[in-house]
Amino acid sequence: MGLFSRFSKSAQDGKNSEPVDSELFVIVDRSVDPHLVVYHDPRAILSEQYRHFRTNLLALNKDGSPKSVVFTSSHKGEGKSISVANIALSLVELGNTRVCLVDTDFRAPVLGKMFGIGEEPGLSDMLLEGLSLDKVLHQTKTENLRLICSGREPRNPTELLGSERMLDLASALKKDFQYILFDTPPIFPYSDACILGSRCNGIILVVRMDHTPKSTVEKAVKSAESAGGKVIGTFLTAIRPIGKEYTREYYYYKEST
Ligand SMILES: Nc1ncnc2c1ncn2[C@@H]1O[C@H](COP(=O)(O)OP(=O)(O)OP(=O)(O)O)[C@@H](O)[C@H]1O
Ligand SMILES: [Mg+2]
Repeated sequence: MGLFSRFSKSAQDGKNSEPVDSELFVIVDRSVDPHLVVYHDPRAILSEQYRHFRTNLLALNKDGSPKSVVFTSSHKGEGKSISVANIALSLVELGNTRVCLVDTDFRAPVLGKMFGIGEEPGLSDMLLEGLSLDKVLHQTKTENLRLICSGREPRNPTELLGSERMLDLASALKKDFQYILFDTPPIFPYSDACILGSRCNGIILVVRMDHTPKSTVEKAVKSAESAGGKVIGTFLTAIRPIGKEYTREYYYYKEST
């Protein structure tokens, strides 16, 4: 990786070669994934987009109490992990906000590697082996941002996320963090995100623009809400620039958490 990077388009969406969300930005630390633009280059336009989202998320939290939020999408590869990590980074930029990121995507964990930490020990080790919270609560290179990696892949990921221990963890984290953000697998075909979402304050649906059909997004919202979760908004990825400006309609919120 050179000194500069460009936010790249998903390889699986190779039909259209036009770049999206494309902007050169500075890489300050090669051990941290170049997609974490808020870490590398807070002044980049992309970093500003994550801050816009942060503003809206904060506006929903009128009483300022600790909130747990699940980030998911209809299908895989829509940008969940990169989005939730950058949003976490933008929240801690405020200085007075402590954030814990939790990777619950046991089947395809990425956050540990993204932050240059590694995936173990992590959540599954704590839930299954009884490892203490302080052993899995990794300090990232950014003050006030902690990360719980996924840990070893368990045999029963869905049951693990619905367990009492998982519920206890969320309550314990709320004592020390203002935001607990969960990266999860996609809603289709897994039920993990819906189960976790029903136990959290809200769900953000990450939607890849010009990729996910509206009917699929609607089905995902229905699935999440029929499991008892509350979809509080969407975060759109792969936004196409209009001239030098980016479209502003890349997220909306439905109701307060
Ligand atoms: N805001 C964005 N704009 C353009 N491309 C993006 C954006 N966010 C992510 N991507 C691209 O999408 C790809 C997938 O990103 P990411 O791993 O975050 O998705 P995911 O939804 O977590 O995937 P999975 O379902 O496999 O966990 C990345 O390779 C990245 O290049
Ligand atoms: Mg992911």
